[in-house]
Amino acid sequence: MSRLLIVHHTASPATHELFESVRKGATTDEIEGVEVVTRAALQATASDVFAADGIVLGTPANIGYMSGALKHFFDTVYYPCLEETRRLPYGLYVHGNNDATGAVRAVEAIAGGLGWEPAARPVVVIGAVTKADLEACWELGATLAATISPS
Ligand SMILES: Cc1cc2nc3c(=O)[nH]c(=O)nc-3n(C[C@H](O)[C@H](O)[C@H](O)COP(=O)(O)O)c2cc1C
Repeated sequence: MSRLLIVHHTASPATHELFESVRKGATTDEIEGVEVVTRAALQATASDVFAADGIVLGTPANIGYMSGALKHFFDTVYYPCLEETRRLPYGLYVHGNNDATGAVRAVEAIAGGLGWEPAARPVVVIGAVTKADLEACWELGATLAATISPS
């Protein structure tokens, strides 16, 4: 059994909708052999990352950057995970209300520093969440689960 970890900062109904769609995609019956574990970004630990075969990161864009909560996650796990989690497949979704570019760039820079490898393009949602946005989040979760599925 493989394990997909979703580390998210869910700060509003909009970010909750995206999180739920990622989780639903990751747990689809179409993909077997993948256990999905979710952790709020302020609760996730290096042990959670060590136990994961893939990871999805979710954050709002705040003041041109990722949320403080997701940054805290990276601050917590960066050095403990630096040697042992290289090539970990990861995905990213970001919600903002005008410009999420800085948040995406920041996550990609830190994940790249860890040696994690993008398994899907980031899902960036600006403003009101649409059905297409939810589908993209579902696909993100399903793609990460399929990437690490043992079957
Ligand atoms: C302090 C603060 C800073 C924010 N900075 C940005 C930003 O730099 N870029 C952006 O696109 N949205 C920004 N936002 C909007 C949040 O990303 C947005 O509120 C969050 O994704 C939740 O979505 P909602 O407000 O539609 O519920 C900011 C919100 C707050 C409260």
